[in-house]
Formats: sequence, structure tokens, C-alpha cells
Amino acid sequence: MIKSGTAEKLKKIPIIDLASGYQLIKDEIEKAVLEVLASGHYILGPNVSLFEEEFSKYIGAKHTVSCANGTDALLLSLMALGIKQGDEVITVSHSFFATSEAIALACAKPVFADIRENDFNIDPLKIEKLITKNTKAIIPVHLYGQPCDILKIVEIAKKHNLFVIEDCAQAAGAKLNGKSIGTFGDIGTVSFFPTKNLGAFGDAGAIVTNNEELANKIRQLRFHGSSKRYIHDYIGLNSRLDEIQAAILRVKLKYLDEWNLKRQKAAEYYNELFKNVKDVIIPSVKPNSCHIFHQYTIRLQKRDLVCEKLKESGVETIIYYPIPIHLQKAFDYLNCKSNSLPVTEKICNEILSLPVYPDIQRDDQEYIVEVIKKILKE
Ligand SMILES: Cc1ncc(COP(=O)(O)O)c(C=O)c1O
Repeated sequence: MIKSGTAEKLKKIPIIDLASGYQLIKDEIEKAVLEVLASGHYILGPNVSLFEEEFSKYIGAKHTVSCANGTDALLLSLMALGIKQGDEVITVSHSFFATSEAIALACAKPVFADIRENDFNIDPLKIEKLITKNTKAIIPVHLYGQPCDILKIVEIAKKHNLFVIEDCAQAAGAKLNGKSIGTFGDIGTVSFFPTKNLGAFGDAGAIVTNNEELANKIRQLRFHGSSKRYIHDYIGLNSRLDEIQAAILRVKLKYLDEWNLKRQKAAEYYNELFKNVKDVIIPSVKPNSCHIFHQYTIRLQKRDLVCEKLKESGVETIIYYPIPIHLQKAFDYLNCKSNSLPVTEKICNEILSLPVYPDIQRDDQEYIVEVIKKILKE
């Protein structure tokens, strides 16, 4: 175990430091929240409309429809596209459970494509052979903040007349060729869960699209399928963003580019520190791709040992995600076999996400890498 500084005090480095992030913008946040409290307008009010406008402008999409969380954003998108029982949706098994859960909640069947080892994202070469007459959509995930190969996916989707819903839960502000992810497919979905790179102080989510008809339908679906009070055209959800969260997100959106840049700088510093550490595979960044490092995820053979020793040394790490979705009990009914997705299943044993957030200290990063190097030498 390595002790920091003058030796006695064990360092404590969290995987993410939400409380200190808050301190940096405390005054602005508190002012915004107090204004909402005093306004008496708490659901679908002016902050929600303004946030939707501002987020559309930021992303470069014509419409943003906010909702209660990123899972609902996926479900509302599937509902709006008419995905139903008997339909199949191609996605990845290496993601947060919600990506596939939303497909199942829409009564459709998730069909899993394997990922690429170098960027942890869906492998476009694995998609076409999974397409059947029941396939209606593809949900690629821009995992850890890195754009997936969305241009190829859109090309495949066009060829086979499929919808594309981009799961951008971990990648607000990430870009490919200068264009924001979420704007390549039919719909992009975002999560503003507090730990996300644009995080609310509670649950929140949004859908972005350039399609006005879809945006209007989603707007109705998030509010019990209603267009006018007590007039219901669809069976929908109660999935609205509240005014307090919208006001907070409006403040935080102004800082998003700055924070994403700081995450990139922190990632660059890790890369530098890991130079010549041959047992650690650092995250790769594709050309023309703006990876916003929602996570800094390394791969290493001695992952479990390193994870344990880092914990003993006061460093919190996380394995996103230890069990692939296709092998989760909840999806037993799909009868997926082990070894059916070799890359997904292999990397689950190798990945480790290290602390990364806009204001992570360089000496904390140095400490983390020193601990890892020491363990690897033993
Ligand atoms: C890739 C991915 N998709 C969807 C979600 C669901 O978002 P939420 O937690 O806001 O429902 C998450 C959240 O962790 C996620 O990481």
C-alpha cells in the first residue's frame, strides 16, 4: 500500500467527486433553484422550455424533448417509432442494463451485436448478419464518451430501412467530424443522471431529433399521450423533467465544453503516465473523434488484483460492466449462450475505469498510476 505525502495519511480518491463539483458553481445553482421555488411553477415550466431550446442549440439538433431519465428517453423513442411486440432491435450487451431494458419494456426483443476491442463500441461488421425480417432498429451506444462508428451504422440502417436511436447517455457533447453525436441517427437519447458528464441533481433525461413529427409525438408520449388537457391520443408515460432539474441543467450546460475539455486533459495526462507501462492498455481515440472521457477505462490482465490493491490504497475504481447484459438473469428468456459474444465477454474481465472528472488533481492521477505500476511489478 502506498501512502501519500508525509506518509501517515492514506489518500482517498473517489471515482467521481460530485460534492466538490457543486462547490464550484454553488452560488449560481442555488440562485437558480431558489428562483424556481419562488416561482410556484414546478413541472413543464419556463426552465424546461429554455433548457430544451439551449440544449438543441448546443447539440445542433432541431428539437429536444426532455423527460424523467435516460431510460425513459430510450423507451419513449422506441414507442414513438412504433416498436412493438415481435420486433427486434439490435444493440450491444456491453452497456448499462437500461439500453436493453428499454427494448424489453417496449415488448421487443434485444438482439446483441459484439463490440470492438479497441473502442468498446458496437462493431458495425457484426450487425448485418443479425438483421432479420423482424429487425426494426439499431441502438448503438457511445460508451464511456467515445463516439461509436455511427456513420457506418447509419449506412447499414439506410440500406435495410431501419431506425437508429443513438444512446448518448454517457456522451453529451462528444463529436464525430465536428458534429455532435445524437444527431446522426433518427433520435439521440441522453441521461442527466448526477454522475453523467452533464448531470442534474436527481434523475433527468432528454431526446434529441431533427424530425418534427417524432418530436411532437414524443412530447405527447412523455405526458400520458396527451396533446391537450384530458385529450389522450396515445398510451404514454408520465416522464417529465421538473423545473428544478431544468434550472440546474441550464446552469451546468454553460460549463459543459469546459468540463469535457478538462476530462480530455486528464485523460491525456493518464496516457502520458501510462507510457511504457506495457501491461496496461490505455483507451484509444479514433481519428476525427472527440471522446469526452465520461470514463477513462483501461484494460489489464491483472485487473482484479489491481482493483483490490487500489481500494486498499484509497482509490475508488469501477468495473463498467462486470456481467454483460445477455448473460444477466433478467434476460435468461432470450437463451443467449456464453461465448456468443467473445469480445464482450473477454473485455469484461479486463476493464477498469479510473477516477476521472474535470477537477481531478494531477498528483492524484500520479498516485493512482504509481500504485498500479507497483502492483504490476510485484
Ligand atoms: C449507456 C446508458 N444508457 C442508458 C442509461 C439510463 O439512464 P438513466 O439512468 O438516466 O435512466 C444509462 C445510465 O446510466 C447509460 O449509461
